[in-house]
Amino acid sequence: MAIPALMDISDKVVGKPGDPCAMVIFGAAGDLTRRKLIPALYNLAKYNLLSREFAVIGVARNEMSTEQFRDKISSETREFTTTDVSPDLWEWFIRRVYYISGEFTDGNSYLQLRDLLKQAEKDHGTRSNYLYYLATAPSFFGQIVEELGKAGITGEAPDQWRRVIIEKPFGRDLESAQALNRQLRRVLSENQIYRIDHYLGKETVQNILAFRFSNGIFEPVWNRRYIDHVQITVAETVGVEGRGGYYEQAGTLRDMVPNHIFQLVSLIAMEPPISFEADAVRDEQAKILHAVQPLSPEEVLSRTVRGQYGEGFSGNSTRVPAYRSEPDVAPDSRTETFAAMKLLIDNWRWVDVPFYIRTGKRMPHRHTEVAIQFRRAPFVLFRDTPVEKLTPNLLVLSIQPEEGISLRFGAKMPGPVMRLGAVDMNFKYMDYFGSNPSTGYERLLHDCMVGDATLFQRDDMVEAGWKVVNPVLDVWKALPPRNFPNYAAGSWGPPEADELIGRDGRHWRNGDK
Ligand code: BG6
Repeated sequence: MAIPALMDISDKVVGKPGDPCAMVIFGAAGDLTRRKLIPALYNLAKYNLLSREFAVIGVARNEMSTEQFRDKISSETREFTTTDVSPDLWEWFIRRVYYISGEFTDGNSYLQLRDLLKQAEKDHGTRSNYLYYLATAPSFFGQIVEELGKAGITGEAPDQWRRVIIEKPFGRDLESAQALNRQLRRVLSENQIYRIDHYLGKETVQNILAFRFSNGIFEPVWNRRYIDHVQITVAETVGVEGRGGYYEQAGTLRDMVPNHIFQLVSLIAMEPPISFEADAVRDEQAKILHAVQPLSPEEVLSRTVRGQYGEGFSGNSTRVPAYRSEPDVAPDSRTETFAAMKLLIDNWRWVDVPFYIRTGKRMPHRHTEVAIQFRRAPFVLFRDTPVEKLTPNLLVLSIQPEEGISLRFGAKMPGPVMRLGAVDMNFKYMDYFGSNPSTGYERLLHDCMVGDATLFQRDDMVEAGWKVVNPVLDVWKALPPRNFPNYAAGSWGPPEADELIGRDGRHWRNGDK
């Protein structure tokens, strides 16, 4: 099929480079730095979105010199970058990279850092703007910020900014998230704090805003009058990928729901913001999270499901072990690797429209989608077509790995008699835009460098997310699961998840086309 030329309806604003700055990565020897952060910085430089007055300072415990760190990331970037590495540009980049070996808890590391930041200013013109990226274990977040404060390198002035990007998980429940917010706020003001959720770096997640608010035809039907229910699935084929130690503490609910899945829920359900200013958008997202109906302990039992995978298959045929046999996992672990919930949003737009969400490890396909199921046509116009056979309209926003949007509607099947079938109108990103060789972190890093916090979580949003999840954590803790493992690796989760939605006369779209 010939694809029509894409019409560029934007203002053709070519992105401007981020502000001059020095970026300090805590946890620089880790996986995130190697796989995402350095490749993303390189890509920004390639697209001319990184200031030429820039430097990176890696901080980690590992003993290494700057030269060794440069060698390490030079070889790793060639492995992990999604684009070709140009020798000249890499040479420019690597000359701006430094390393400090030190403990995050040791004040001396921060004094060394302060000196190096000053030096970078002289050598690379970074102008006293500092971006701290905390890619460490969450237990260090609060202390690193305190130490930065003590070293006197967090204060802003009219011509100098200091911002901190904090990775997830932000707390492990409401209380700890509140405590962490308080700890950070003793040193930083809220507008210096950028709580990152990498889901918001995904093009298809950002496109939810574009889809909803740049098209006139969907908004009038985007409500309880026309929508029957919403289904959000985040299915992964991977297991815990060697992260058993972390996962035992977290579990799927904490790992995926208050952050990634609630981002999707709030973008789908929010009211149109009055502008695309960061706080205008985040105010509307926060209102949705506040409007999610709190679950009583009884409702936790009837509206949530947890699961843990047993042995089974990954993909088509590879045999994989049970969660309890993964490294660093207790043989009698009660940690969930699957969670499903039915949420209700108490506002005029959504009252009585269930949002079913589910996420799990070791599902049959890697598949993230938001499916919006519309109500059935109210009236059977066509004789001999029982109303149950009329397919309701369905809008599916596919987030990954396929990226696209499809709309299902009824159509007459060819032939002499009137028979109805369902057809799909499909838009695939790939067909229009080709592949997008980015790590997903470029946009977020660039936004932080220009001071745009729209795609970062505000303190109240994080706390509102935990408020929804907290009662579930409490009940699950009080009533340990008896039947784990309760789904086989390579299946769609425990049967209770089907019952959860089945009780309402609905069913999950298990990768249905
Ligand atoms: C992370 C979780 O935040 O997101 C992981 O800690 C999960 O457990 C990952 O696998 C999923 O991200 P993506 O981008 O692969 O969907």
